[in-house]
Amino acid sequence: MRLAIFASGGGSNFQAILDATRRGTLCADVVLCVTNSDRAGVIERATKHSIPVLRISPNDYLDADDYSADLLSGLDASGVDFIALAGYMKIIPAEIVERFRGRIVNIHPALLPAFGGKGMYGMRVHEAVIASGEETSGASVHVVDEEYDTGPIVLQYSVPVLPDDTPGSLAARVLEVEHRLYPDALALFAEERIVLEGSVVRIKRPNL
Ligand code: GRF
Repeated sequence: MRLAIFASGGGSNFQAILDATRRGTLCADVVLCVTNSDRAGVIERATKHSIPVLRISPNDYLDADDYSADLLSGLDASGVDFIALAGYMKIIPAEIVERFRGRIVNIHPALLPAFGGKGMYGMRVHEAVIASGEETSGASVHVVDEEYDTGPIVLQYSVPVLPDDTPGSLAARVLEVEHRLYPDALALFAEERIVLEGSVVRIKRPNL
């Protein structure tokens, strides 16, 4: 699996995925880091590990088709065959969702389908979870479709919401889980154990 990781922020999930490939628990090569921001911390992480970085933002294009075409040719130039979104703040163009159908995943810091959708990102998710009085939150890895956070769910992991939690303390507890969940979910794809049947994800037993 030749993986591109898209990230707009610090890139701790990028790091967790890369570490899993280096440890050998995830059989994939991270061949490209895509970011929309010059200031993203993920750039330093990628550079440190000699992973090529493609800095591209739709904001720099007048024509959305030109943006999609450039993004697609960047992915093709690196031979990318799977995309992991890890804190990526831009919508993926429909052409790319179509080209990589079933081969783009995202991680969301809550138990989807709850607390997802447009505008539900970053601290807002954890604020909403705490405000709702839920006693459990967690992280979800899902397949990306044309909408926000609606694609089939691959794996989820839950964490407790504690009575004295702040959005920050809850975010930290969820992020720790994300770092294990995301490489595990990607490994299922790399081992060809994921079967997508419409909106249902079936996980095959490992070949022992
Ligand atoms: C994570 O909480 C992820 O769930 C969300 O954005 C955050 C990214 O964190 N989509 P990092 O950049 O991987 O540290």
